[in-house]
Amino acid sequence: MPLLIRNGEIVTADARFRADVYVEHETITRIGTNLEVPDGTEVIDATGKYVFPGFIDPHVHVYLPFMATFAKDTHATASRAALVGGTTTFIEMCCPSRGEDALEGYHLWKSKAQGQSACDYTFHMAVTKYDEQTETQLRQIVADGVSSFKVFLSYKNFFGVEDGELYQTLMLARELGVIVTAHCENAELVARLQQKLLAEGRTGPEWHEPSRPEEVEAEGTNRFATFLEATGARGYVVHLSCAPALKVALDAKARGVDLTVESVIPHFLLDRTYAEREGVEGMKYVMSPPLRDKSNQKALWDALAAGLIDTVGTDHCPFDVAQKAMGEGDFTKIPNGIPAIEDRVNLLWTYGVSRGRLDLHRFVDAASTRAARLFGLFPRKGTVAVGSDADLVVYDPAYRGVISVATQHVNNDYNGFEGFEIDGRPSVVILRGQVAARDGEFVGEPGRGTFLRRTPAREPEFA
Ligand code: URP
Ligand code: ZN
Ligand code: ZN
Repeated sequence: MPLLIRNGEIVTADARFRADVYVEHETITRIGTNLEVPDGTEVIDATGKYVFPGFIDPHVHVYLPFMATFAKDTHATASRAALVGGTTTFIEMCCPSRGEDALEGYHLWKSKAQGQSACDYTFHMAVTKYDEQTETQLRQIVADGVSSFKVFLSYKNFFGVEDGELYQTLMLARELGVIVTAHCENAELVARLQQKLLAEGRTGPEWHEPSRPEEVEAEGTNRFATFLEATGARGYVVHLSCAPALKVALDAKARGVDLTVESVIPHFLLDRTYAEREGVEGMKYVMSPPLRDKSNQKALWDALAAGLIDTVGTDHCPFDVAQKAMGEGDFTKIPNGIPAIEDRVNLLWTYGVSRGRLDLHRFVDAASTRAARLFGLFPRKGTVAVGSDADLVVYDPAYRGVISVATQHVNNDYNGFEGFEIDGRPSVVILRGQVAARDGEFVGEPGRGTFLRRTPAREPEFA
């Protein structure tokens, strides 16, 4: 059935106007005022509401074997949560470990998502080792429509790559026109500091941050930038958490390194005192890079407002309380990660736009458009335009609520943002022309999400 979204205020990364949006099948076919529509059209009244492009989360973990356990979500649960929160596309980290075969991993991740995800999805392909066979497989994976890689400069011996492998990955990426996303921490220093702290009897979750201090992240960021400069590859730092790493990234950008920056919603709103809570309460907030001293948050918000931090993702990675408790008596065994896929947009809206830190267009850009542009999804995704996929969020800025585990769709038994007020929420979320969520509830079609085949955003260098 065709859809008309009537009388909303359309906001994209660079435009704002009142109009109707008409959708046929999966696509926006008309935008204008007082549009005539055929009988049988479903009309959604958006008076007093914004109409945003569907939001894109550029960094999530759904299927993830990690730290002797598995992240809790399935593609069914994570995608429902995403849609309820206004996210119509996510980019999942496909992360076979160093001991595993890259192509087998890729097929496994794809099979987990296919027919299960209710929202659209694609992958960043993790390169967790580099040898001849892996290189051949990476070429196949890129040909299959994955135009971004992921490297970890941390998690030694599991996901982490050595400097030589980083260099080879970047050279291949440059050749193929692929962008490389990177987790930037110095793996060796983290391992040494962990050993030292444990030997001193410092075993609680409050010691996670001191084991991966800000300088360790700044070093990883600087190393990644230096390797990008040497190879001419395109890079994207994931989950940047602190002012020293930000300075390194911005210095690199200023000298012409092709580097973009993501920060994730927890780092804007939570700080290290959460991980200093007693026992498992603190463990809930263990993630890497760790939650930092609150003084970093102003630098992150300012850089985001100025467009110097490009995107806001989540690094969504739920582990439940029992899993977190595996790290009782040894903080290095606490599964790293917290969930946020459902709440990212509302939190960014509330503490960014509503509380005066972020302009409306930058909000749309950071939470949708820029990821679409960087990762080869634009203009199919990331904007409201004739010809684009009809992924639309009718957003109600008058809604007032509070985040709670009791109402979340994420498959987890806590929410790290419990009790946070929100000043708005999606009232209708549309994925490719079908209503998928209304007023905090999933009403879509399970498994309807599609794998988004992407081509490299830049011409291959050596083709
Ligand atoms: O703590 C985190 N971030 N867990 C997920 C894995 C990663 O580093 O992205
Ligand atoms: Zn990471
Ligand atoms: Zn991650």
